[in-house]
Amino acid sequence: MLKETMTTLELALQQLRDINYSLDEACVVAVTDVKGNIIFVNQKFCDISQYARNELLGQNHRIINSGYHSQSFWKNMWHTIANGKIWRGEIRNQAKDGSYYWMDTTIVPLLNAEGKPYRYVSFRVDITERKQAEEFLRRSEKITVLGQMASAIAHEIRNPLAAIKMTVELMRYNDANPEDDNQFDMILSELSRVDSIVGEFLVLARPHEENFTDHDIHDLLEVVVSLMSIQAARNNVKIALEPTHGKPVIRCDENQMKQVFINVIKNAIEAMQNGGTITVQVEIAQNNGVILRFIDQGSGIPEEVLDKLGEPFFTTKETGTGLGLMICQKIVQEHQGTFQIHSQAQQGTTVEIFLPARRQETTA
Ligand SMILES: Nc1ncnc2c1ncn2[C@@H]1O[C@H](COP(=O)(O)OP(=O)(O)OP(=O)(O)O)[C@@H](O)[C@H]1O
Ligand SMILES: [Mg+2]
Repeated sequence: MLKETMTTLELALQQLRDINYSLDEACVVAVTDVKGNIIFVNQKFCDISQYARNELLGQNHRIINSGYHSQSFWKNMWHTIANGKIWRGEIRNQAKDGSYYWMDTTIVPLLNAEGKPYRYVSFRVDITERKQAEEFLRRSEKITVLGQMASAIAHEIRNPLAAIKMTVELMRYNDANPEDDNQFDMILSELSRVDSIVGEFLVLARPHEENFTDHDIHDLLEVVVSLMSIQAARNNVKIALEPTHGKPVIRCDENQMKQVFINVIKNAIEAMQNGGTITVQVEIAQNNGVILRFIDQGSGIPEEVLDKLGEPFFTTKETGTGLGLMICQKIVQEHQGTFQIHSQAQQGTTVEIFLPARRQETTA
């Protein structure tokens, strides 16, 4: 009889160990007391949060709080579990190195004989990648809508603008008084300025396939670098284009690609108030694609700003429009490439652009 009970117990224990092991592998697990102080974490919790176990035990979960969620979000969570109910939600946490990660979280209150919670057990699953993909989609949808609107408006403005320009030119031609020349020149040059601003918005329109031609990416960069060197020199900034090994050819809309490089270099110059060097590198990537890097020695980008980059009209500059990066991302996306920014405050910024190689035309 005793032996039988022992065997049953052994079996039950083994089952528990198995469940425990599987759970440990699949989930981030933590247990807290009613006050929210951590009394147990599994290895996965330590791995993802980058804290050692002894840095976590006895601490409140605030140690991994990213400051993202509102007070009412936390209030609702506490209210639910304090009432003995299970809470589920998606939480953004912050790891020890400052990076963020998203967890799908379930918190189960363990109840005593009076039905009051005496412990909270949380199970979390990493959903960072899914969240990033959602964010990317949300952003590109926004950009697409904005792009369509901007280019539609730009088209509408261009026609009357051209008519005004022609009329002014005609008036100038018919006006015999040389004293008026200056005023006409000023009107015409201001009109050109409006035209070029409107032109920038047209960039947001989807590039036309017929504008896509083959270009040596190093040559394109050389042109832009020499174009931007004057503005850079005024700010005590040097732009160093490193030699490229090989001759990477990319199929692209030349003007749009130049626009990307100009925007990125302009940002780098503007971030380097004390001068320095912007390094531009071209690296041949897998399958003959290219990785372009623009490395600056500027002010860097703090984490809270990094999150917002590429959002239309987001700027930290007094005279910025906050459209530069959005346009870059849109254009690179249209070229089936990727656009990434790596930066830490005070440590400079690296913009990394991947562009796929041109499709190989098959000759019959
Ligand atoms: N290389 C960089 N170094 C530091 N901060 C940068 C860098 N690139 C971009 N930023 C930050 O990103 C913000 C958005 O850049 P974006 O180019 O989209 O707009 P902007 O430069 O402010 O205005 P504009 O439309 O004139 O380009 C900037 O205001 C700046 O805070
Ligand atoms: Mg800019």
